[in-house]
Amino acid sequence: MDLIENYKNDFIAYLNEKVEVKQPINLYEPIHYILQLGGKRLRPVLTLMTCEIFNGEVKQAFDAALAIEVFHNFTLIHDDIMDSAPIRRGQVTVHEKWDVNTGILSGDAMMIMAYQCFETYEPSTFKKLMLLFNTTSLQVCEGQQFDMDFETRTDVSIPEYLKMITYKTSVLVAAAMKMGAIVANASNKEADVIYDFGLNLGIAFQLQDDFLDTFGDAAVFGKQIGGDILENKKTFLFLKALEVCNVKDKQKLIELYTSNKHNEEKVKEVTALFERNKLKEITIQEIESYTNKAFKDLESLSISKQKKEVLKNFGLSLMKRTI
Ligand code: IPE
Ligand code: IPE
Ligand code: MG
Ligand code: MG
Ligand code: MG
Repeated sequence: MDLIENYKNDFIAYLNEKVEVKQPINLYEPIHYILQLGGKRLRPVLTLMTCEIFNGEVKQAFDAALAIEVFHNFTLIHDDIMDSAPIRRGQVTVHEKWDVNTGILSGDAMMIMAYQCFETYEPSTFKKLMLLFNTTSLQVCEGQQFDMDFETRTDVSIPEYLKMITYKTSVLVAAAMKMGAIVANASNKEADVIYDFGLNLGIAFQLQDDFLDTFGDAAVFGKQIGGDILENKKTFLFLKALEVCNVKDKQKLIELYTSNKHNEEKVKEVTALFERNKLKEITIQEIESYTNKAFKDLESLSISKQKKEVLKNFGLSLMKRTI
């Protein structure tokens, strides 16, 4: 755990060095605001950790880690606009503190800043990082569009859901790790295995995010609880509920998700319905299953037992998260 804290602290020091507020203030202040709001720094930590696991120089992975974190924070600004979210990391969201237009432009600038981070790499590494980043960031957009399209559908299947979360969330976690491998000059095979590990871990991570959005503690989770329910998000909890609950509850759930009811009463009713149909337990099981899938991916890696343990412990700690 100490190791992770170290990566995190080193990364934050690097971030603080690189991110400054300049004119025009209304462009850069929101960027500074979101980047300083904290967050788990999960993705940059994974980049640094993976680089070290493949015997690379951690220092050389800082810019890739920064690119990933800046990109991630850009997606959060735009995501909060798209999801009408009032709170992020326990504070007011950018579009609420400033306005939607500010959120759009500051987000766009962050996307470019993310690209700039790669400028320091020599041509062969630069090209590999760039190809991965382009594929990944476009997939994130695709995932986000699926997520929005699903809001108005009630016939979304679980495989469709899994594809949506793979794109909106997992590919970035996977790419964060693969970038660490690329910087460390790991073999293509190793880079691909660590990508798959990240992909499965990322699916578990988004399942957990869905879980916490309904069953988390707002003060710890830092986001509005029930936000997904209010927005008719087709989360794992919703889709699995349609599969497991009786006809009466199924009708009720569909009714709640197709009416324009947008209030606390809806959140309460849906949460109670999820609870009585054991969605808490079912979702936790699914999170465990994807985490174990990720652990299986590690078997084919030719790294030391201790290094595999580091990765496993990280996966296990994610499973226990409440934030
Ligand atoms: C939030 O990501 C968006 C999702 C993909 C669920 P994180 O939960 O990593 O957010 P921060 O960066 O720690 O706040
Ligand atoms: C977000 O998914 C994925 C991206 C930001 C690309 P969510 O909408 O579930 O993330 P949170 O819960 O707002 O952090
Ligand atoms: Mg959101
Ligand atoms: Mg969203
Ligand atoms: Mg969420």
